[in-house]
Amino acid sequence: MGVVIDGCPPQLEINQQEIQAELDRRRPGQSDLTTPRQEEDRVQILSGIFEGQTLGTPISLMVWNKDAKPESYAPFRDTFRPSHADYTYQAKYGIRNWMGGGRASARETIGRVAAGVLARKWLQQQCGVEIVAWVESVHDLRAHIDPDTVTRQQVDSNLVRCPDLELAEQMAERIRWAKDQGDSVGGVIGVVARAVPPGLGEPVFDKLEAELAKGLMSLPAVKGVEIGSGFAGTLLTGSQHNDPFEMREGRVRTLKNHSGGVQGGISNGENIVLRVAFKPTSTIFVAQQSVDSQGQNVVLEAQGRHDPCVLPRAVPIVEAMVALVLMDQALRQRAQNGTRTLPTM
Ligand SMILES: Cc1cc2nc3c(=O)[nH]c(=O)nc-3n(C[C@H](O)[C@H](O)[C@H](O)COP(=O)(O)O)c2cc1C
Repeated sequence: MGVVIDGCPPQLEINQQEIQAELDRRRPGQSDLTTPRQEEDRVQILSGIFEGQTLGTPISLMVWNKDAKPESYAPFRDTFRPSHADYTYQAKYGIRNWMGGGRASARETIGRVAAGVLARKWLQQQCGVEIVAWVESVHDLRAHIDPDTVTRQQVDSNLVRCPDLELAEQMAERIRWAKDQGDSVGGVIGVVARAVPPGLGEPVFDKLEAELAKGLMSLPAVKGVEIGSGFAGTLLTGSQHNDPFEMREGRVRTLKNHSGGVQGGISNGENIVLRVAFKPTSTIFVAQQSVDSQGQNVVLEAQGRHDPCVLPRAVPIVEAMVALVLMDQALRQRAQNGTRTLPTM
């Protein structure tokens, strides 16, 4: 994977280990709950970072895949995997790289995670923003996690990355159960961005929640995004749903946060809270009906090394995507309105 990060301001201190640490949270082969592919995902900095600081010029990184086994993708050369991108790529381009999923492989998220390290650090330094994601549900097992207090340490305390240890254990068992059947399960990732200043986001087309939803929906296997009360808010009345304002410590605050930190497409200074739905991994080892490139109905029996559940590895990817969107919006706010709501810039 080659990664190019453009538009990052100069003089941000960053080193290879910081990027590597996040890639290690994403990499395959972390446990028996993920794909057994042993990809080390060692990052190499090619340009744009000099003596531990960004130069302001494009940053390019390289991550070599040392454990590719293209032969295990041979069954997918002529047969489309149900619910993967094989058919749609073929329909669009008339050609596709069938080895390892090509451009539709979740390996592309290496770029997002690497860039997210810079975005996160910049946001932290400029405004104290803190972003934490966690596995909220796997299949029908759901944890109730407090977005105001959850820490990354709690999230990383177990293999599933669910801060509720009892449920994490049940989730791990459910993933192992799916794996034993040659099947897969999906789930929901919760994410919070704390200490985001009010004022980020644009009034019409680039509303903050629209930008966040686009960033998150562009992740592989994502099928839904909710902000704040989301779909559950439709069950409330306006008086139940509204977030009353109050002055607290010299700032306008809300008593509740059904808005999820965004009103009118612009951050209101409360925690930005989102939920992201990931489908069950599409490559499974159960025989499935499909069609081959000659237009024949066939039965596909898949093989290879796949994640029985993508959720544990998707946590750092979701965090990175939220960081990238927020940094873009913060840079935009600074460019248009100066230091109005970003006090330390
Ligand atoms: C961290 C992560 C790991 C994934 N691993 C696999 C995998 O091992 N096998 C697979 O078929 N899909 C995997 N996916 C999902 C596919 O990349 C995705 O389903 C595919 O690109 C089709 O896109 P769509 O599901 O968004 O329509 C993974 C996704 C993520 C986020």
